[in-house]
Amino acid sequence: MALKVGMLTSGGDAQGLNPAMRGVSRALWNNNPDTKILGFLNGYHGLMHANYRHMQDHDFSGILTLGGTILGTSRQSFKFVNDPLYDNQPEGITRLEAMIQTYNDLALDALVILGGGGTQKTANLLSQKGCNIIHLPKTIDNDISGTDLSFGFQSAVNIATEVIDGIHSTALSHSRVFIVELMGNKVGWLTLHAGIASGADIILIPEIPYTPIKVFQALQTREMEKKRFSIIAIAEGARSIDEVDLDEYELKESRKSIHSVAYHLQNQLEELLIKEIRVCVPGHFQRGGKPSAFDRVLTTKLGVEAANAVIEGDFGKMIGVVGQKTVRVPLQKVSGVTKWVPLDDPVLLAAREMGISFGD
Ligand code: F6P
Repeated sequence: MALKVGMLTSGGDAQGLNPAMRGVSRALWNNNPDTKILGFLNGYHGLMHANYRHMQDHDFSGILTLGGTILGTSRQSFKFVNDPLYDNQPEGITRLEAMIQTYNDLALDALVILGGGGTQKTANLLSQKGCNIIHLPKTIDNDISGTDLSFGFQSAVNIATEVIDGIHSTALSHSRVFIVELMGNKVGWLTLHAGIASGADIILIPEIPYTPIKVFQALQTREMEKKRFSIIAIAEGARSIDEVDLDEYELKESRKSIHSVAYHLQNQLEELLIKEIRVCVPGHFQRGGKPSAFDRVLTTKLGVEAANAVIEGDFGKMIGVVGQKTVRVPLQKVSGVTKWVPLDDPVLLAAREMGISFGD
């Protein structure tokens, strides 16, 4: 019998969502052309409100190179999953119940969910409640456990690298220090990789709290070596050593009105340094544009494996990649587990051996 499969993209978008969906759908239809694919619009919101489209083969045509998501997305925080679906009906159905109801009403055989860590927690809950779930790991942050890579990460590394590449010439002309703040949420993968790929002189990531005076000393060393400019790549989640124990609220308070860590560091350094400092925050630019060739290949591989898991009825799994191989990881094993940059990460160690400062 032909399967009926739902699909949705949830959370912040990232390059690779479209090619991943293309991989899933092509492999499903290749297995059985009568398979029905339902695309829920705007993430879990579409699932809650049964807002979906019957997808056709041509919907997935021409999207390999397209950034964003053809289904749309939204952020539906996991912590509100047991809140009422409608604010004016506090005793009514919850968001989670509404999702399960849609799944059952439509008699889905499976639901393929593309998203990051938050999305994965809801996916795991749906799985525990009896829905047949497959999760595909998407995020430029690369913070999902159980997979070496999440898609979007390599594309974002490419963009962030180009940003810093571009900063080099103007930094050199003006003999300036530049601080480039990169995304990555609470982890430092994107900044570490883009920092190394673009030759940043100082790399500051959340996993290694920085000391402003050490950053200053690294800048001074470069000046003594007659290097006319310096580039600091800093992850948006980085903290200085005296901020480590603060909760989010205390951190905001202590940084006063400065929400960006790059500007905060600029202030800290200006107290120590006379040289001109400029800040560059490329922001959502890192998540935009077309998926890199690497991510197109990765998502095709992961998407096809997701379809295979659906066909085999192997549910409650995230489809990841370890080395060159795709893996099916039980959702309950990885849900809610952040993948930090380990302090013995080979890329990080190589950077240290080259003399790149981590501000510690
Ligand atoms: O998780 C992906 C991410 O791009 C983070 O790197 C960043 O902190 C966050 O999303 C931005 O979220 P929003 O798109 O909601 O502003």
